[in-house]
This record gives sequence, C-alpha cells and structure tokens, in this order.
Amino acid sequence: MRVFFIGGGNIARIVADELGGLVTRSWYYDIKETGFSGEYIGNTFYIPKEADFVVECASVGAVKEYGEQVIKSGKDFYIISSGAFADTSFFENFLDLLKDSQSSVFVPSGAIGGIDIINAVKPFVDYVELNTRKPAKAFNMEGLVKTEVVFSGNAKEAISKFPQNANVSVTLSLAVGSFDKVKVNFLADPSIDENIHEVNIYSSVGNYSVIHKNKPSPNPKTSYLAPLSLVSAIKKRTSKFQIG
Ligand SMILES: NC(=O)c1ccc[n+]([C@@H]2O[C@H](COP(=O)([O-])OP(=O)(O)OC[C@H]3O[C@@H](n4cnc5c(N)ncnc54)[C@H](O)[C@@H]3O)[C@@H](O)[C@H]2O)c1
Repeated sequence: MRVFFIGGGNIARIVADELGGLVTRSWYYDIKETGFSGEYIGNTFYIPKEADFVVECASVGAVKEYGEQVIKSGKDFYIISSGAFADTSFFENFLDLLKDSQSSVFVPSGAIGGIDIINAVKPFVDYVELNTRKPAKAFNMEGLVKTEVVFSGNAKEAISKFPQNANVSVTLSLAVGSFDKVKVNFLADPSIDENIHEVNIYSSVGNYSVIHKNKPSPNPKTSYLAPLSLVSAIKKRTSKFQIG
C-alpha cells in the first residue's frame, strides 16, 4: 500500500505503526514537519500521484480545505474527522462531486462501536443518545474538582464548540441520517482517566446500549480506538472475507 496521510500527528503515527509492513511507501502533508515516519511533502498541499489512497487524520478544517481535491483526484479517501460533514452545504457539495468521481469515501466508526447496529435498524430508529464522559484535561479543564456537564445539544452544535471531541456525535448522526435524532451530552469528569462513550439506540425493533471505556491515545482528546478503527477499515481493502 502506498498511502498519503493528511496530518502527521498522533493518529497518523498509530495507523502507520499498526499497518506496519503493509505500507510500502507513505507521504504526509501537515502545516509543520512532525517527525512522522512518512515523507514530508512540505506545507503546500498536493496529492502524490503514486499514492493508492488518502487518509485524513488532521482536523475538521483539513477535510473542508482539501476534501474536494481528494475527490477530484479519484483516489479512495478515509476520513476520521467526520465532523466536517456537520456543515450541510459542504456535505451536499461533497456528495455531488463524489457522484462523478472514481473515489470511494470511508468514514470509520472512530472511537465508538454500534454503527453496524444503526446501519441495520436505521429505518426503525426513533432516537439515539450519546453521553460522552472524558477526563477534565480533554476539555482543557485541568483543576476541575467535580463532574460538570459541558455540553447538551445536537452534533452540529457539539462539533462547532468541540471540534476535536465531537466527531463521534457527527458519525452517529450521519449513520442515523438525522442530526435531530441524536441527543448529545458531554461531561468533564476529574475522577476518570478513560474516554467513556455511552450510546443508547431506541428503535421500534429493539433498544441497544453500547458502553465504551476507551483508553486515551498519547493525545488525550483522541481515544486509542479511533486510529485502530481506521486501521481496521483500511485492512478491509485487501480482505475477501468480511464479518460484521
Ligand atoms: N472520528 C473519531 O472518533 C475521532 C476521534 C478522535 C479524533 N478524531 C479526529 O482526528 C483528528 C486528529 O487527531 P490526532 O489525535 O492525530 O491529533 P494531533 O493533533 O495529534 O494531529 C493532527 C495533525 O494534523 C495537523 N493538521 C491539523 N489541521 C491541519 C490542516 N488544516 N492542514 C494541515 N495539517 C493539519 C496538525 O498540525 C497535527 O500535526 C482530530 O482533530 C479529530 O478531528 C476523530
């Protein structure tokens, strides 16, 4: 695999480590050189012709800035900063471009599971509840002494206030097909060291609760599961027998 990474930070490092020898060549674009193992293309964006596919692990802003160019290149595109699609006009334009492109776009489930349930029961979903509880430092609230609700609302509002903490809420809303059906609560909890996501799915064919107790990655805002879900999605490229 020859991989072009947008963003050469924490997630890029974990993805490259986990893919190991599957990657024969890699490049990365970032606003700065980060020490990531791929070849740094400099801070002027372009897509290396030899790359087989593109992996975004930078930010919501990067998806909005460079997403169109990736789709126009015809290369497959893995996007971890799903929050970009909370912007309706960006999303509609993106889907329009995708119709005439050779690219396929993959948004991995990121720091949560349960997307397979939502995909299956989507026509029957009444609403979904996401309660995210993270250590205070993930919300830049060091020194907090007791748990505080830092946000309640929908995923569009969540991603505009917490662009690095709310991608999960947007991924859920995209899976459900509605930003109105997903209720989002964020809590800063000084007593925990895990990123806990409780997802409750209410539907006419059943109710489902999935609790995730994620260990953070070296970047405390990012759960370790997020890069691993990207790795799992990329590995599916070469798998002829898929489960789930
Ligand atoms: N879907 C999910 O569940 C989920 C979970 C965690 C993180 N994320 C997303 O993944 C992103 C990356 O996480 P990370 O832990 O690797 O963060 P990080 O800060 O360690 O690395 C991000 C890198 O991308 C670069 N970057 C950011 N915006 C850029 C831009 N516009 N142009 C060029 N380079 C840019 C930064 O300089 C940095 O080196 C987060 O910002 C978040 O949007 C998604």
